[in-house]
Amino acid sequence: MILLKTKEEIELIRDAARLVGKSLAEVGRHIRPGVTTAFLDKIGEQFIRDNGGIPLCKGYEGFPSAFCISVNDVVVHGIPSEEIFIKEGDNITLDCVVELNGYCGDSAYTFTCGEVSPEMERLLKTTKEALYIGLDKCKAGNRIGDIGSAVQMHCEKNGYNVVRELCGHGVGIKMHESPNVPNYGVRGTGPLLKEGMVIAVEPMVCMGSKNVKFSKEDGWTCRTKDGKPAAHFEHTVAIGADGPDILSTFDFIENN
Ligand code: MF3
Ligand code: CO
Repeated sequence: MILLKTKEEIELIRDAARLVGKSLAEVGRHIRPGVTTAFLDKIGEQFIRDNGGIPLCKGYEGFPSAFCISVNDVVVHGIPSEEIFIKEGDNITLDCVVELNGYCGDSAYTFTCGEVSPEMERLLKTTKEALYIGLDKCKAGNRIGDIGSAVQMHCEKNGYNVVRELCGHGVGIKMHESPNVPNYGVRGTGPLLKEGMVIAVEPMVCMGSKNVKFSKEDGWTCRTKDGKPAAHFEHTVAIGADGPDILSTFDFIENN
């Protein structure tokens, strides 16, 4: 069942999503060569708690930390570790869900450390563009397939591929609600978008092939099969009568 949220609920989700945006920026400020992903996670978890939020990823189906931190060929669900050191030229995706006053927001951003290759810059730029192109379709009367189709077309047009195994999702009361929001699809198909629906749109885009594998050791870490980099940007958005109401924000992120 797809829940419709009231105006009041949407404001509460906005508050939670805004705290996610601030948290991504706070952790992003600490990215530099030599820091571990465990250090970044610790800073982020403290920031969320200091601001009255609950980091929902921690403990979710056994996930051990507040943030998913995914470096280079790790597409999503990277587990922060004392053994993973950031180095110049890396891309680092921070993904986090926060509950605040009973409602939750979900957002992700792929940062870079220092100078990265022009190929990497272009991947990140295209993935972020794909997110906003998908968000543009978040209007009552459209369908879920309109979002996926727009995201997929933009990525493939630029020579990239979208991951099939993982999707966006409804969000708000819980971290994962109905419907699934794939990053691929066919225009005019899938569930109808209605005013008051709140979803997370989150293109996961590969520089090389779309195939991914999940770590046998930890069960979470999702990597590209070909070892090429991937990027991931995510916003929480409310479906409006006339267009998207983007509830999370990248405005706190420097050089966004
Ligand atoms: N933000 C992710 C998502 O979009 C996080 C879920 S995975 C978790 O669904 F286990 F780390 F929580
Ligand atoms: Co999500």
